[in-house]
Amino acid sequence: MTGALTGPRFGGTKDFTESDDPAHSWSPPNITSDPETGRLGKMNEDQFVARFRQGRLIPNSPMPWQAFSRMSDDDLRAIYRYLKTVPAVKRDNGPVLVNVGKTS
Ligand code: HEM
Repeated sequence: MTGALTGPRFGGTKDFTESDDPAHSWSPPNITSDPETGRLGKMNEDQFVARFRQGRLIPNSPMPWQAFSRMSDDDLRAIYRYLKTVPAVKRDNGPVLVNVGKTS
């Protein structure tokens, strides 16, 4: 992993691997407003804030939910409104957590 963009901005990606858990890979979701493949195509602003308040739902998710769940409502609403301004990307990254079965 190099940190380089792997596709259109905010469109998510696949095969996010971690050296300390080679058995799984993660796919950070498409968070644009595409109605079919983008999380913001299905979440309104209140739902977005509510999702962040829930924190981590999938064990060991690399998304920094702990810190992000403590952002203020104003900050979360600002992030949502910003994300609504970026171009929608049609990109289905599949399930967010994939068991790739490797043990080392
Ligand atoms: C301000 C920055 C970020 C925003 C606004 C954001 C937003 C989101 C949203 C809306 C979801 C979908 C939640 C759902 O549908 O239940 C999500 C999931 C996810 N994000 Fe982020 N994210 C951010 C930063 C990050 C970072 C820094 C990482 C990794 C280093 C990351 C990795 C993931 C992963 C792997 C998921 C899928 C697993 C899960 O839902 O826990 N995100 N993110």
